[in-house]
Amino acid sequence: MTELSTPAPRAQPAPEITLAPFDAAHIAGALRLSQAAGWPHLAQDWALTLSVSQGVVALKGSEVVGTALCSAFGDVACLNMIIVDADLRGQGLGRRLMEAVIDLAGPRELRLTATAEGLPLYEKLGFVAIGEIYQHQGIARDAEPELPVTVTSGLEAAEGLSRLAEQDLAASGMARGTLIAAIAAGGEVLRCAGGFALLRVFGRGRVLGPVVARDSAQARALIAAGARRAAGCFLRLDLTDPALAPEVEALGLVHVGGGTAMVSRAQNAANAETAPAREFTTYALASQALG
Ligand SMILES: CC(C)(COP(=O)(O)OP(=O)(O)OC[C@H]1O[C@@H](n2cnc3c(N)ncnc32)[C@H](O)[C@@H]1OP(=O)(O)O)[C@@H](O)C(=O)NCCC(=O)NCCS
Repeated sequence: MTELSTPAPRAQPAPEITLAPFDAAHIAGALRLSQAAGWPHLAQDWALTLSVSQGVVALKGSEVVGTALCSAFGDVACLNMIIVDADLRGQGLGRRLMEAVIDLAGPRELRLTATAEGLPLYEKLGFVAIGEIYQHQGIARDAEPELPVTVTSGLEAAEGLSRLAEQDLAASGMARGTLIAAIAAGGEVLRCAGGFALLRVFGRGRVLGPVVARDSAQARALIAAGARRAAGCFLRLDLTDPALAPEVEALGLVHVGGGTAMVSRAQNAANAETAPAREFTTYALASQALG
């Protein structure tokens, strides 16, 4: 007679990966993913982006293994913070997350800044490259702006924010009054006769952006004033125009990489060449995530 052995405990089935709405409770898990991807974001950077976004997380049990956000600004939505846990890449999760945030964007024009890793996925989803973003950073050097720039913070900074939102809309086509107010509340507003820039704590130090101006001379003055405010500290700029690079490098901010600006469903793409010239230009982004 054979002796009955106790059956070995069954291995737990691997938990299925589910998508759920992204809320503030997911920031700690999201931060783990962005740090593992080598991104500099702090919890407060995630919180700022989440405050103007909806999004999804991929959950394996209760663990956050993927993230994607959709920041809707009027007729345009920026898709951002697309990350999949390194152990789960190449299995279709990035596509699932992107499809979920594309749904959240509704019929809006879609924009994003792609890393080299994300680019093939976005091309498959119909995005096209429209330009490059030039990330500059370093320890800022003091500089004298060549045009007058005023700096305000806190409550004072709130004055005239609607004018700044109009200039930003004219430059970017995005209605971002809420974002500008949120950044100004915790940062500094630099204004000159023909534009403005926002300076805030981000990642390894501070970031200057957006930098919105009528022309490059105004943009240069705003950037020099930003470097002066941050002199001796880490400062980052995500430039849209490499023509400003020599001045930016002279301020101690070296080119360290960047990303590819991509769009899908662009409303003016078909007639970009005949579109009227914009009164303002975005010379540096609020962030690669938010445009
Ligand atoms: C980019 C990223 C989110 C992709 O996630 P993923 O789960 O590996 O992507 P998927 O498995 O869903 O792949 C999506 C599609 O892109 C294709 N693809 C992915 N990488 C590719 C590559 N290097 N070359 C060609 N095709 C590629 C896949 O074949 C797949 O195509 P299919 O859906 O037609 O089969 C992931 O690599 C990541 O988190 N990278 C680090 C953070 C980052 O750079 N994020 C992008 C920010 S813009």
